[in-house]
Amino acid sequence: MDAKATPIDRDWWKRRPVYQIYPRSFLDTNGDGVGDLVGITQGLTALKALGAGIVWLSPIFFSPMADNGYDMADYCRIDPRFGTMADFEALLAQAALLDLKIVLDIALNHTSIEHPWFVAAARDPTSPYRDFYHWREKPNNWHSIFGGPAWSQVPDGAYYLHLFDKTQADLNWDNPTVRQHIYEAMRFWLTKGVSGFRLDVVTVISKPAGLPDVADPSPGPLYKALAIGPNLHPWLREMRREVFDHYDCVAIGEGPGLNPVRAAQLVDPADPMLDMIYHFDFVDPPQRANQPWDRVWFKSVFSRWDQAIGPRGWNTCVLGNHDLRRLISRFGDQNVNDGQVAKALAAAYLLQRATPFIYQGDELGLGDTIITSFEDLNDVWAKTTYRLELEVGGTEAQALAKAAAMTRDHARTPYPWTPLGGFTTGTPWLKPTLNKGGVDLATQMADPNSVWSFYRFALKLREADPATWIFGAYEDIAPEHPDVFVFKRGEYGLVSINFGSQPYHLCDLDHNLLEGRRLLAAFGDVEGDQLGPWACCIFGRGN
Ligand code: NOJ
Repeated sequence: MDAKATPIDRDWWKRRPVYQIYPRSFLDTNGDGVGDLVGITQGLTALKALGAGIVWLSPIFFSPMADNGYDMADYCRIDPRFGTMADFEALLAQAALLDLKIVLDIALNHTSIEHPWFVAAARDPTSPYRDFYHWREKPNNWHSIFGGPAWSQVPDGAYYLHLFDKTQADLNWDNPTVRQHIYEAMRFWLTKGVSGFRLDVVTVISKPAGLPDVADPSPGPLYKALAIGPNLHPWLREMRREVFDHYDCVAIGEGPGLNPVRAAQLVDPADPMLDMIYHFDFVDPPQRANQPWDRVWFKSVFSRWDQAIGPRGWNTCVLGNHDLRRLISRFGDQNVNDGQVAKALAAAYLLQRATPFIYQGDELGLGDTIITSFEDLNDVWAKTTYRLELEVGGTEAQALAKAAAMTRDHARTPYPWTPLGGFTTGTPWLKPTLNKGGVDLATQMADPNSVWSFYRFALKLREADPATWIFGAYEDIAPEHPDVFVFKRGEYGLVSINFGSQPYHLCDLDHNLLEGRRLLAAFGDVEGDQLGPWACCIFGRGN
């Protein structure tokens, strides 16, 4: 072997933070109000400046967009709303220049009902494509995750399964031809130069034989009942053999319904199926007396997942994404300003033993949007929620309140490039979030104390001392403390965040913990060794 050969960094996905782009809302360069690939190409330098290493694009494939691309009608074609294949190739070239890896999103549990496979299957029960989907004469009791039954009829009266919207028909993965088609599509993109996939709801692709009724068919319990079906492991091993093993790429699973033990099996380096998987334990923060959300619970989620996966496989840390309300509304505190909340949360999730996933806009501390009418809603799930509320006798105001509280539109508004917006010269496809001042990229890049600058600092820390901040063992020093989150990373790293309303004294810590450590950063009201509410101190190597 040539001793000078550069070693291949096969584990780049452990070191590189992920930035998730929601393409419709990132940057529109042709004035049609919808973000596009040329816009993404232009925006990559800003992501590089932030410290991202992997850019995950939410779906860009050809789609009727009932679920904004998670309803795919062609796995090997770019949707014209986003641009052309040439635009995508230019994006890949620019990403390579900047040393950014591009990861695509693939919905492999279902296709759009406008996919030619489904069109053929629905038209003709004898078509070979019929077996690409799940059919029944009578539905079982499963509910769609988006509300209502999980079964709809085609003109010949047969019911097809859709765990999501009725426009998203579940593929029958038991059919080996279906699997081969999906693998072929993945190879197509990997050969083009993408660096991996985020596999949409991959945990539910294997359905139980006979599709039996479940005890509780509502979304959470149904996900749990369906996660890791009988053939998930063999199929993921097959996918690895047929696809991932042949490329330098990463396989990231979206893992609804998973618990840490089951997740650890999927990313076990001794029997690798996926490289990383992310969970939903952070979605609904429970409350605790006098607090909007329970800090002890919050800390326990980090520890539970680190203990299960950290020492062997590799963890992810996903707090926000395009399906959830914004971080500062889920984990905020009405007495504290949004920027400080955003920084404190960043200190908690960017410095874990895990690959952090940053969702577009969270690095600015972007908040929820304001929904005042049905016309403000785009999310198919929210619209279904609205309709179902009316169907059970709710008023329009009740239906709107229910939809506004859960709609995924909160996280999908146009990206604020400048104080005036800067996303489009046309009419944006979704009403932008109101900028209360300073929540835009241009302002924050110029301000060393902004949320954006704090994100950049934390990501640089990982880069500068990976032994501590990427690979260092994780330990929560005070798991039972009701307010303060203090964790150790390796020998030298220590993060202390006060999520409470009372000052906290660092001298309450065991002093050995601070020995040999240097104060690297602090924000909020920090005086001497006292941390005010929502203040934070980060300590690292003392050299
Ligand atoms: C999970 C995706 O994140 C979500 O946006 C989508 O609606 C469902 N999967 C269905 O594809």
